[in-house]
This record gives sequence, structure tokens and C-alpha cells, in this order.
Amino acid sequence: MNKNWWKSAIIYQVTLSSFLDGNNDGIGDFIGLEKKIEYIKDLGANVIWVSPHYSSPMDDNGYDVSDFYQVNKRYGTLEDFKSFVKASHKIGIKVITDLVLNHTSDEHLWFQKASNPLDIDYQKYHDYYIWQKPKYKDGLRVRPTRWLSWFGGPTWDYVEACDEYYLHIFSKKMPDLNWRNKEVREEMKKVVNFWVDLGVDGFRVDAANHLEKNWDFPDGYPGYENFSSLPKHHDYIKEFGEEIFEPRELLTIGESGGASKEEALKYVGFDSKEFNLLIHFGHVWADTGPDNKIFNGKWAKSNLRVQDIKKSFQHWYDMLVGKGWNLIYWHNHDHPRIVSHYGNDSLEFREISAKMLAISLYFMPGTSITYQGEEIGMTNLLYEDINDFRDVEVFTEYKNFLERGATVEMALQALRDRSRDNARSPMQWNASAYAGFSKIEPFMKVNFNYLDINVLKESQNVSSVLNTYKFILNLRKEDAKNISYGALEFLDIENEENFVYRTIGPDKEYLILSNFTDKTIEVKLPVVALSGYEYFYSNSSFKKLSTTNVLKPYEAYVYIKKY
Ligand code: GLC
Ligand code: CA
Repeated sequence: MNKNWWKSAIIYQVTLSSFLDGNNDGIGDFIGLEKKIEYIKDLGANVIWVSPHYSSPMDDNGYDVSDFYQVNKRYGTLEDFKSFVKASHKIGIKVITDLVLNHTSDEHLWFQKASNPLDIDYQKYHDYYIWQKPKYKDGLRVRPTRWLSWFGGPTWDYVEACDEYYLHIFSKKMPDLNWRNKEVREEMKKVVNFWVDLGVDGFRVDAANHLEKNWDFPDGYPGYENFSSLPKHHDYIKEFGEEIFEPRELLTIGESGGASKEEALKYVGFDSKEFNLLIHFGHVWADTGPDNKIFNGKWAKSNLRVQDIKKSFQHWYDMLVGKGWNLIYWHNHDHPRIVSHYGNDSLEFREISAKMLAISLYFMPGTSITYQGEEIGMTNLLYEDINDFRDVEVFTEYKNFLERGATVEMALQALRDRSRDNARSPMQWNASAYAGFSKIEPFMKVNFNYLDINVLKESQNVSSVLNTYKFILNLRKEDAKNISYGALEFLDIENEENFVYRTIGPDKEYLILSNFTDKTIEVKLPVVALSGYEYFYSNSSFKKLSTTNVLKPYEAYVYIKKY
């Protein structure tokens, strides 16, 4: 096996719950996933990343693990898991799983012992987590700090039996592990080895930049700097890299919201021992404004700034070129659907804008990840009832919005625009009941538009979104030399409407011209830039490259120059 295979890998990300229900209990599972590995291969992918498959009370979609050594019953048995891995390997697909290192579920045995002073192993496990004594103000018990969790509430919860608060930077059912404790790290190495022994080819390492905390616990609000990207978290990752990831030749993808150049090179520099690839969020929220009275962070929606998306891709390429490897993706299970977010999901423009987004992303260098349903242009949800949502984050934030003065409709609209549930509804396979996902009512409502948007329908039309993805991802695989290994150069990067770049390979160049708007725009190119380019592909029809290119709404063109 070529040591560098992952540099041109085409990764496909699956959220198990919503991919395909193989035993008709309303929840996706390994039997369902195994049935679709040929579909994934056909699309051009050669790596599948599966969402957390471990035992879990499912407070946060399985990121709250209660037993790292068991397959979650809702997804099947260990035998089903092994069968899926074996079948994937047989057709040349590698499998990576999600690895949740930062926290466990509060239902994990470790935490049960850690929070029960009567347990004989209390001391040992207490020290697996992060605890602080209460503070008192006017005689009342208050939290050690005012830090804000990523899901919107406080980061501390009180356990009476211990008279202490435990830290949780996500939901209160997800206590953070104490990574300074060597025993914790050793336990986690065992987990990694267990799954590698079963055939897993690598991991996507969840919340990697949060492993270290500021143990002085200074007060502050929101206090993110006390549990994000602290220098020591690199030591932990490096320890895993040196002891396991590298010797066992695993593909590792770390998740870290952002990073400076120095940090990026620590994570994925060729001579660093941490990860192969990094999932950062550089391009993900290019349509947020300043916080307002009701909405903060990603919830504060504003106009899309295309130039910010372009700058992020260029910035990451420039930071890593020659020194580390780049990763490209549009969105994952934590984001709205890309066609609704950066494209246009109206009847008129959904299809063309989904194709435009595919053309705009997948000619860029690096390794790519495609998220389930992206390839058929699945859209955001139009749920009208708060109870239709499933995500733990939704419920805390909904309450926050109402408390801050939002009307129910405003709060629901924010969830429809931005919530993570948008990406987690059942995959739309065909036009039969429940979109062919299951024979019974699924755990979460299918998007109402499945009659129109589904895999079967898409596969019957040669120029569908699905066939566009198939064409481009397969090309990406065949021409990795010029695409994955190419050099990225945006043109007109400050322009607020277009998305124009070149990917320069050793024997050809690709030139991409996209219109990110619902208006007709002109893309002007200097005469010198034109020479030698031939029309190659588009989401519209043949057009010769010229100095002034008129692009109708969401049109995208690809030109090639061969040397
Ligand atoms: C990561 C996951 C997200 C999860 C969180 C806590 O950001 O992608 O889905 O909620 O970590 O594990
Ligand atoms: Ca099932």
C-alpha cells in the first residue's frame, strides 16, 4: 500500500442513525450501511467515516459514550460491525470511526464510580474527571466559574454526594475527562487498539483541541480560552501519534475549530506526529454577523460573504503548502445543509446551485470529505414544531432565544436555518414511504421534499446533482496528480459574487468560474490568463472562455489547459 494513499483519498461521511435502516426499527444501522457500500464506492469514495458507533444513551448523537468497547445496540451487533468492515475492505474501501476522547457519557461506569464516594474505586475514577468545589456568594452555592458550554448552558454541574461540580464543556451528560491523568490516556489507547485490531483503518478525532483545560479555573464569560487550544493538548495528541497512530499506519483526522499557522503545522505538518488531516471551520460560518440581543455566534445570521469562504480556502492552502496536507469539505453533521446555507434551496435554483457548489469545492487540492446527502442536494428541514427536532443543543438554545425575547417563530426559524439537525434527518433514497430509509416511522421526521429529492430519481437523470458528484469525485480520484496534488490560486479573491480559481498540476491546470449569486454576473479575465484553456465541464452548457464571461445565476464552468 502506498504510504501516501490518504493524500488523495475521497472520504464519505455517514451519520449512522440516519443513513439506512436495515432491520426496520426506524433507526439507521450497520446492516443498512453495508447494503450501500457499493453506492458509496460508485460515487467515487474510498474511505467511509462513520459517526460514533459506541454504546451511548444518545444525549448528543452518540458523542456521549457509555462503553467504548460495545457497538451501540441501535446500530446492531459487533458481528454487524465486523461484517461491514470486512465487506468494505473487500471492495477497496477503508473505514474510519469517530474517536471521542474529550469526554464520556455520565452513564459511563467511570463516571458512575467517580461520582459515588461509596464506591471502592471512588478516588481512582474521581480523578478521571475534572472537579471543583463550589463557591459561595451571599451564603448561596454558586458555580466555580461562569464558563459557557458549547451547547449554550453552564459548564459545571453539581453532584451532591461529592459536594463538588464536574466540568462539561458540552452537554451536562458529557463530563470532560482529565487528560492530565496518565491512566485516562492509557485507557484511551486501549480503546484505540481494540478497534484497530478489529480492522478499523483510522479515526476522526472529536473535539481534539479541547483536551487540555486551564486548571487555575479563572472566572470569565464565556471563558472558551480556558478549554480551547491550550498548548498542552498537542502533547497528548503527539503521544497518541507516536505510540499508536503512526506505528499502526492509521489515517487520522483531527477536529479543531481553528488554528494559527504554527498550530496547523503541529497538527498536520509532514514532520509532526499528530494527525494526517485537520477538520477546521474556517469557511463554515461565512454568513454570521455580530452577536445581537437574541442571537449569538453561529445563530447570528447575516449575508453570505463569498470572499471569506475563498480567503479561508486560500489561507489554509498557503499555510500548509509543502509542509502539511490540506483537507476540503463543505459541511458535516454539525452544520446546516450546504445547498440551503451557501447555495439556494428554492425550487428554481436548488439543483443548479448544488452543482455549482460541487464544482466550486471538488477541484481544489487536498483530501476531500463529502457528507451523506450532499451528493443529492438535500436541503435544510422545515420543521414547525420544536418537538420535531432531536439535537440536545437545539433545546438549550431554543430556551435561551425565548428568554432573550425571541418569538416562537423567530426561534424556530433560527433552528431551521442553523441547527445541526438539518444535516441529520433520514437519507432520502427513493419516493416510497419514509423515503425508503425505513419501513416504519423513523426516529426523526423525513424531509417533506423526499418525493422530489432522492437517490433513485437522481440516478435516473444523467445531469443530476448526484451524477455531477459522481463525475467530479471519480475524476478527482483518477486525476489526483493534478487535482489533489495541485496548487491552489484564487483570482479576484475580494470579489463578493464569484468564485474563481486555478488548480495547477504538473501536466494540466483547471480553471473554475462560479457564480455564487442569484443574479447574472460578469467575470472578467485578463487576456493572458485565457491562452490555452479549453471548455471541460459545467452545470449549464458549452461556453468558450473569454475576457468577459457572463454567468447566469449559480452557473459554474470548468476549463482545462494541458501542457
Ligand atoms: C464535535 C462533534 C459534535 C459533538 C461534539 C461533542 O464537535 O462533531 O457533533 O457534539 O464534538 O462531542
Ligand atoms: Ca435499524
